[in-house]
Amino acid sequence: MITQTPISTENISILDLEHPGANDAAYIARRNEIAKAAIRFRQTGKLPRVNYTDLEHKTWQQICQKLAPIHKEKACKIYLEGRKKLDISEDYIPEFTDLNAHLAELTGFRLLPIEGLVDSRNFLVNFTERTMLCTQYIRHHSKPEYTPEPDIIHEVIGHVPAFTDEAFVQFLERFGEVISLCTDEGVEKLDRIYWWTVEYGLIKEDGETKVFGAGLLGSIGEMTHAFEVPHHPFDPQVCMNTPFDYTHMQPQLFVIESLEDLQEKMEATFLDIINKYKRFK
Ligand SMILES: [Fe+2]
Repeated sequence: MITQTPISTENISILDLEHPGANDAAYIARRNEIAKAAIRFRQTGKLPRVNYTDLEHKTWQQICQKLAPIHKEKACKIYLEGRKKLDISEDYIPEFTDLNAHLAELTGFRLLPIEGLVDSRNFLVNFTERTMLCTQYIRHHSKPEYTPEPDIIHEVIGHVPAFTDEAFVQFLERFGEVISLCTDEGVEKLDRIYWWTVEYGLIKEDGETKVFGAGLLGSIGEMTHAFEVPHHPFDPQVCMNTPFDYTHMQPQLFVIESLEDLQEKMEATFLDIINKYKRFK
């Protein structure tokens, strides 16, 4: 998940009043600790181990155990196969160093820590290096099914399994490459397509509609809601002109025919976008 909010090391500890952890000093201190480790990483290049607490592992377990049967029924094959390949535990939160070691053998994709939200260009351009900037803190334990922002559950349960798929990773790589060539207007168009596919996309499989997007796969509420809103066939032109609101559940979703179909349609769109929104003309 991404927004236009730039990273600020000064506001790490300020949570919106609506945030479930806004009045929990211990939670805020813990987020600061994890955020500072991400900042230190950029200074030292040393990937931090978070050493999650029992309370944090418990929040993870609660969500994973509820999501498991829903995933079995509704998640797409790329996702389910990726979960198997990585053997992500439902009992404890994995460290990035361990996930990266496993991903290195499969696709060479890697997760790097970031302390908070980053602007779309800087987030998406990292795909050129088979890298995703990911938060490491976890949502507040009082509301395990809800998070107003991406957290470790969204990143690892939602996104990471698909990073085991070479074709998907190649798609992300190409996405990042095109981002690096575009003006801000082009980035905005691509950001919307990213949202409606990688974050909130559905996919056809053997005549059935399955869940493909990380924003859906990492959320109990979204997995159910996804089948209660209108579904439209994926069309890059429609998606790039459909704004999104990350503070609410999505009012409609788009269905891709297959990963190959997404890649094919997007290659034509990438060329079109580069042509229209190229930087440094
Ligand atoms: Fe995301």
